[in-house]
Amino acid sequence: MSAPASFPKGRLITFEGGEGAGKSTQIRILANRLAQAGVEIAATREPGGSPHAERLREFLLSGRAAPLGALGEAMLFAAARIDHVDSLIAPALARGAFVLCDRFIDSTRAYQGAMGKADPRMIAVLEKVALGDLKPDLTIVLDLPAPAGLTRAAHRRGAATQPDRFEREELSFHEGLRNAFLDIASKEADRCCVVDSTAPQEEVAQAIWRLVEARFLAPAAQAR
Ligand code: TYD
Repeated sequence: MSAPASFPKGRLITFEGGEGAGKSTQIRILANRLAQAGVEIAATREPGGSPHAERLREFLLSGRAAPLGALGEAMLFAAARIDHVDSLIAPALARGAFVLCDRFIDSTRAYQGAMGKADPRMIAVLEKVALGDLKPDLTIVLDLPAPAGLTRAAHRRGAATQPDRFEREELSFHEGLRNAFLDIASKEADRCCVVDSTAPQEEVAQAIWRLVEARFLAPAAQAR
């Protein structure tokens, strides 16, 4: 089944950026703050977030899908997204939850589109197939120079674990990714906000909180 046409109540907030940008930490902090404000939260991630999609995640991050090429991989990311939207995101939004998603459509645009050179028209078709009329209400792009992000990602992973399919790419790939995310953010400035992720963690969290509060919580407070 594809995504329903409308999601009347909840909010979809996506987090994007290169490797080691701090998305999962910031999602955790925002989820706590929203929960304290009485908002129902569904924190999730891509690829994955639902049982079928998690199986595709394993396949994609192992590198076994790489021989299919960037468009083939994009199709698998989209297949995972269809299941994730149908089984987790759409029901949560319909209940009125705030869905906080670690990576979403912009990762496909940046990794498989801009860097993998998959045709952007095909990426747009896959987006439409997976999302229908759904679109993120807000996308936070966590921005930092690629070498700093890769160092953080390696530290988090630990020496005993091998880098995944995308972490293994060259520095120039990761620098290109950063530009691709910044480019998306500048073209869709209503939806996307860039947050400097070189700042201390608490400052980054505060910047994100201000954005979320101003967009989604302040109007409700004024209406009461
Ligand atoms: P993950 O371990 O979640 O990385 P990170 O902590 O950096 O978010 O791995 C997800 C990887 O999958 C990441 O390298 C980005 C990549 N990816 C794509 O290439 N296309 C996509 O559409 C998505 C959602 C992720």
